[in-house]
Amino acid sequence: MTSYRTGIIACGIIARVHARGWQGVQGCPTRIGAIADTNPDALREFGDFFGVGVEHRYADYREMLDREGLDFVDVCSWHQQHAEMVIAAAARRPKAIICQKPMAVDLGEADAMLTACERNGVKLLIAYQRPHHATWLKARDLIRQGVVGRVTQIQLEEGGNLLNTNSHNIRLALFLMDEPQVEWALGAVERTTDQVERGLPAEDACLGVAGCDNGAAIFIQGNLTRGLGQGCRVIGSHGIMELDTTYHPESAIPSDAPMYMPEGLSARYNYEIGTVRYLNGSTNGWQEVIAPWHDCWSHQCQEVIDWVEGRVEQPISGAARGRAVQEIMMALFESARKRQRIYLPLKTRVNPLKLMVEDGELPVEWPGRYERRAGLVRGEAMSWHQEPL
Ligand SMILES: NC(=O)c1ccc[n+]([C@@H]2O[C@H](COP(=O)([O-])OP(=O)(O)OC[C@H]3O[C@@H](n4cnc5c(N)ncnc54)[C@H](O)[C@@H]3O)[C@@H](O)[C@H]2O)c1
Repeated sequence: MTSYRTGIIACGIIARVHARGWQGVQGCPTRIGAIADTNPDALREFGDFFGVGVEHRYADYREMLDREGLDFVDVCSWHQQHAEMVIAAAARRPKAIICQKPMAVDLGEADAMLTACERNGVKLLIAYQRPHHATWLKARDLIRQGVVGRVTQIQLEEGGNLLNTNSHNIRLALFLMDEPQVEWALGAVERTTDQVERGLPAEDACLGVAGCDNGAAIFIQGNLTRGLGQGCRVIGSHGIMELDTTYHPESAIPSDAPMYMPEGLSARYNYEIGTVRYLNGSTNGWQEVIAPWHDCWSHQCQEVIDWVEGRVEQPISGAARGRAVQEIMMALFESARKRQRIYLPLKTRVNPLKLMVEDGELPVEWPGRYERRAGLVRGEAMSWHQEPL
């Protein structure tokens, strides 16, 4: 079996999940060859835990890219660093780059990332891993087979901000409908405090509708209605389907210790379970969808390998699909800024929410900037949480 080396940029929470994802691919064809992080503790703990030799640990990710000749690069840093790091990685021509969601902070950056990868012949994936859940893959098959009839609406009810957790659900909606084109978006945002999420201005709540070319609408209720968090409700002409997530029991999930773990067990992401049930005129009540469980991250890593080895042409996590999510989110913000429906393709290249904040168009009611995830950072990192990177 071919043996690959992957290099991980930024050794935080999600990097651990991704490392376990690589290690869980059948036959383990990929090893963690090198890592980079500006925080020495993060670098040391991660390197020790995942068995990366000290000579392959770097404070400067560009030095790692120059020296290591990697097959794959994993970009596991914050949103604002994705574009810079993917473009730098593409210039060193690995076989593939997998970058964390959201793809970028705006559409201009997303396009620059795509251009850099195309010019250098590098495959790019955006890590929206949840469609890789065994049950959710089956859910798409069932929708294709018509168990809910023609999809008319997909409802999203997530409690986070758009770029962070809601981006997953938009990706899910597109996946379940076999990647329709979104034609327009109408959105409203509320931002009463000066909160940032991983250093980037975030909204308190977002309400939006995105109209698709298959006639369906994606209904986004960010931090408004709490229901199916990481999941969605599919309304069809002949039935309803609900997707949600749960975990294996905590006792079955490996610990990160002795690594820093303010958020608890990071492997809970590896041990997440996608749930699905549906209802139609002939099911006699809710019908649970069962499929043998696998780690959706490993399934996504396998897809990277399959794409590189020519077994897949349209990967589920291909970057064009990550870009589609980015465009919808930016169109929702642009709709709030311009107070009108926005027809795609979106022409605005910057992040309209950031623009509104900078231009004073969204004055906060209770001033004072704060980081939503302040409780998770370590050492002196709070200083770089205060200003845009
Ligand atoms: N797919 C998912 O379900 C999921 C879940 C959680 C997070 N994420 C995404 O993962 C990304 C990272 O989030 P996180 O929670 O793991 O962050 P984190 O705060 O846990 O880790 C970030 C790491 O980046 C390091 N870093 C900062 N600047 C750096 C630089 N210049 N070079 C190298 N390292 C640098 C920090 O020292 C830190 O160790 C975010 O974009 C987030 O949206 C995805």
